[in-house]
Amino acid sequence: LQSTVTDLLLELRPSPHRAGRRAALENALRGAIRDGRLREGARLPSTRALAADLGVARATVVEVYEQLTAEGYLRSRRGSGTVVGGSVPAAARALGETRDRPRPRFDFIPGEPDCASFPRREWLAALRRVLLTAPADLLGYGDPRGVGELRAALSDYLGRIRGVAADPRSVVVFDGVGAALGMLGEVLVAAGRGSVAVEDPGMPFHREILRRVGVRVVPIRVDDHGLSVDDLEATHVGAALVTPAHQYPLGVTMSPERRAALIAWARRNDALIIEDDYDGEFRYDRQPVGAVQGLAPDHVVYAGTASKALAPGVRVGWLVLPPHVRDAVTVARAWRGGASQLEQAALADMLGRGDLDRHVRGRRAAYRHRRDLLLARLADRVPLLEVPGVAAGMHVTVRLPDGVDDVAVARHGPSASLALFPLAPHWSVDGWSGLVLGFSRPTERDFPAAVDALTRFLADQLSSAAT
Ligand SMILES: Cc1ncc(COP(=O)(O)O)c(C=O)c1O
Repeated sequence: LQSTVTDLLLELRPSPHRAGRRAALENALRGAIRDGRLREGARLPSTRALAADLGVARATVVEVYEQLTAEGYLRSRRGSGTVVGGSVPAAARALGETRDRPRPRFDFIPGEPDCASFPRREWLAALRRVLLTAPADLLGYGDPRGVGELRAALSDYLGRIRGVAADPRSVVVFDGVGAALGMLGEVLVAAGRGSVAVEDPGMPFHREILRRVGVRVVPIRVDDHGLSVDDLEATHVGAALVTPAHQYPLGVTMSPERRAALIAWARRNDALIIEDDYDGEFRYDRQPVGAVQGLAPDHVVYAGTASKALAPGVRVGWLVLPPHVRDAVTVARAWRGGASQLEQAALADMLGRGDLDRHVRGRRAAYRHRRDLLLARLADRVPLLEVPGVAAGMHVTVRLPDGVDDVAVARHGPSASLALFPLAPHWSVDGWSGLVLGFSRPTERDFPAAVDALTRFLADQLSSAAT
């Protein structure tokens, strides 16, 4: 395997600049992992050996290994060097997945709500009202911040349900949080603040989107209280991307002390907190936890989406921006365009009539019921599994016993009609093994059977691992 790696790297075009050599090496390795030439588990040469082979500084190779480790393409294991990371190629492929093959019947892949319960009637009525009453301007290019009615409706809604301090001027609408984060990343890079801390474990989607626009991604450990601000203090990043209400994927809620420490860090360093509040509407056990943004609106970019409360197919997401980044992000958005104005206006209409609130309330009750059933069955039939952080959202992450390989377990899922997602690709640096179980995708009718199939499968997997 080592010779494969070396052959591959010998194809690098020489560059007189260190930055150029670094970028070429990084791209070559990333490309090779993505397209499968470097397989999962392949061990890379030591930084010293590779640097000598390529005639580059060892520091260049160290930086490239660190960067690709942060992105999840590589993993460094104590005592056994650097290997191609767990299922990261699978994660990368899953992110760019085409849906040519049907998924197994019982789908526990996280990330999508139950789209079968989309409020079609209300959406259609909203679209119809918009088309009948909106001025022709709605069909023009419109305001680069998005449709005014939606920005106004969102300011009210987010203030009411999430404690976000927003006025319509601070809201910019995009075709999803993914697009918004990419544009925000570009703005940070252009301002010379292109190092961003992300949670570890965290969302591969966050790391990938930021990396693609040239951000240096710095993973920071998450503990029971959320992102470790002590570790953050030791870095020199200009921003930290966090999921405080419901950490993705572990599910922990950032404690009040940690929130205060994070805000103090941002104030002291003139840094930005990027708060991804992807499923803030869905809390079950406690009083709703407000957004960090409400505590420090000048230091927080708040990101939200209609993808969980409604459906990803709607393609509407938003940022609430502090004044000092607002203009640059609006300019970036002006060049790219954003979400469909018709859909934005329809969403504003639904918000204004309370239809979205009603839909969310109904979904919250349904998801809570599903979560309770899933947890009860897991506790009953697979008591060995630990389930941290279950107060919110549409997924739970279960911890597998030490020595059980989550990637292998997920790979066996389809043999039991199960689509499963391992925890491995969420780690930047090696961590424990688990499964991220999204419980929103099976239909209402299928759900009990899906849970039965899942718990039976997990019990089998654990008992065969134990023997
Ligand atoms: C953590 C997180 N944030 C945000 C999103 C939503 O992104 P978008 O608004 O682009 O659909 C997702 C989707 O999977 C997510 O998992």
